[in-house]
Amino acid sequence: MTPAHPPGYAFRTLRALYRFVLVAVTFGLLLVEAASAYTPPPLLRTKLNLQPARACKNCHVDITEQWARSGHANADRGKNQLFGRMYFYSLKQTRGETLIACGPCHETTSFVNQDFEGLKEVSAEGVACAFCHAIDAPSDQGTPAVSLDVDHYSGTIRNPITTPSHLSKYSAFLKTSEYCGACHKYSNQHGVPISDTYGEWKNSTYAKRGVTCQDCHMPGVAGRNATDGPVRPRVANHAFSSAALAAARPNAATLKLRATRRGDSLRVYATVRNAGWGHSLPTGNDQNIALLRLRVKSAEGEILWENDPFAEWDVATFGLTLADELGQGPADTWNATQIVADRRIKAGQSAEVRFDAPAGAEKGPVTLEAQFLLRRARPETVRLYGLSAEYDAERVLAEATLSVP
Ligand code: HEC
Ligand code: HEC
Ligand code: HEC
Ligand code: HEC
Ligand code: HEC
Repeated sequence: MTPAHPPGYAFRTLRALYRFVLVAVTFGLLLVEAASAYTPPPLLRTKLNLQPARACKNCHVDITEQWARSGHANADRGKNQLFGRMYFYSLKQTRGETLIACGPCHETTSFVNQDFEGLKEVSAEGVACAFCHAIDAPSDQGTPAVSLDVDHYSGTIRNPITTPSHLSKYSAFLKTSEYCGACHKYSNQHGVPISDTYGEWKNSTYAKRGVTCQDCHMPGVAGRNATDGPVRPRVANHAFSSAALAAARPNAATLKLRATRRGDSLRVYATVRNAGWGHSLPTGNDQNIALLRLRVKSAEGEILWENDPFAEWDVATFGLTLADELGQGPADTWNATQIVADRRIKAGQSAEVRFDAPAGAEKGPVTLEAQFLLRRARPETVRLYGLSAEYDAERVLAEATLSVP
């Protein structure tokens, strides 16, 4: 039995289809127009055929598997929900202008291959192998500002053994923080610095001591870079895993509590310290925020008081807040004309937060429980963009408890 359609169904569908085609065509034209204004990073050759990761897996097994789980592999609109929704909304709001303002760092190869329809497999691979290894030198133009040599895969092995699969080339640039900084530093069209992990690192003692992004984020042990290659002292890990990094540096963020009783209330000082991040904490764009949650509990375990970090942004939250030309915030990155507050904790520095918590009629001992947490999206972004629960999650960076007699 076939379900009966309500009357007028076919007509409505046709009309909807027509409207869809009209929108798609107009939008498509806008995108084509925006794309034609795009200057790709300088190339040494233009017959392009960047290969997908599948082509690397046979020989670079571990590296390919690590990369596939990383944020880099999942940076494009189809895989990163937050980026995808913001990108789409920004394209509508700016009539396609953000295609070239956002795309080249997040959907790297579609710009090099000029494949805006996403016909090639590699176009959905975000920050792809072939793009990162086509980079061989810095440049003073393009987004990201690098020069590309698509004939060779560049790396830091001085004398790579030859392979029939591709030409290899040594480039010292891949060892530098400037390489990562080509993407991990972004100012919008109004010149507002949206993210500057590179600059934060550059001003830290890590830069002065020569500790690069790769030293911390691409640790490695001895092994083979390729199945058919020799054993080398270090194979750089491509997972860029926060969890692994946090495990390797358990005290990279610390939290300490002090408290004194003042009559019916408690004065609490919580000190958070960026002890081991190679840049500010949080880093990156305005969606990344760190926050402090504090609870006062009675001897029986009853919660007497807890703070709301989002009630007062300038007390227990750390991050970047942007505003648009009307001074309204938090503004989306492409509308931002000013920074309202930059409360990121610089490398090696601390921030102290003071709370006055009511200890109530409670005369007995109380316990303070505090957590220093990290979020990937602001609460209002989760709501506005209807993001999935993982974006509302808060990851623990450090914890502390204190008993007050
Ligand atoms: C071609 C641009 C580009 C280059 C070059 C690049 N990145 Fe990234 N990186 C990105 C983008 C885009 C993201 C965001 C991915 C996402 O979360 O969707 C990202 C995310 C990250 C993350 C967070 C990963 C996660 O899973 O949350 C780390 C850490 C990182 N990059 C480190 C580095 C380091 C270190 C280098 C240099 C060796 C580097 N990146 C080079 C574009 C780049
Ligand atoms: C975000 C940019 C980025 C991406 C994406 C990336 N790599 Fe790398 N890769 C690097 C950097 C930087 C190094 C060098 C690290 C070092 O020596 O400290 C490296 C090292 C290597 C090496 C060893 C040679 C060397 O220079 O040490 C191989 C092989 C390699 N990558 C293959 C791949 C493959 C295959 C993929 C995809 C599955 C991939 N890479 C994705 C940046 C990247
Ligand atoms: C048929 C096997 C094979 C395939 C497929 C392959 N490679 Fe390689 N690759 C090698 C070998 C072998 C080396 C040399 C390793 C060494 O000397 O330690 C190498 C070296 C490299 C280097 C290091 C260059 C240098 O001088 O530091 C990079 C980067 C690289 N490959 C990237 C890729 C990427 C990206 C892909 C997929 C698009 C890929 N390779 C596919 C076998 C392969
Ligand atoms: C001294 C070591 C160190 C150096 C150097 C360093 N980082 Fe980090 N980075 C960290 C630590 C630790 C974290 C936090 C890991 C976690 O999430 O618990 C971090 C976090 C990040 C994040 C955010 C990941 C997330 O989960 O939100 C990005 C992006 C990043 N680093 C990029 C870079 C870039 C780019 C450079 C070079 C300009 C760099 N880092 C240099 C240690 C370092
Ligand atoms: C110069 C390179 C570059 C440009 C251009 C760029 N981004 Fe990014 N974007 C990054 C890097 C690197 C990260 C990861 C570190 C961070 O959080 O800043 C990132 C992260 C993000 C994230 C957070 C993803 C997550 O899951 O944590 C969003 C959302 C985002 N970008 C949106 C945009 C939008 C929208 C635009 C255009 C208006 C844009 N980006 C332009 C490099 C860039």
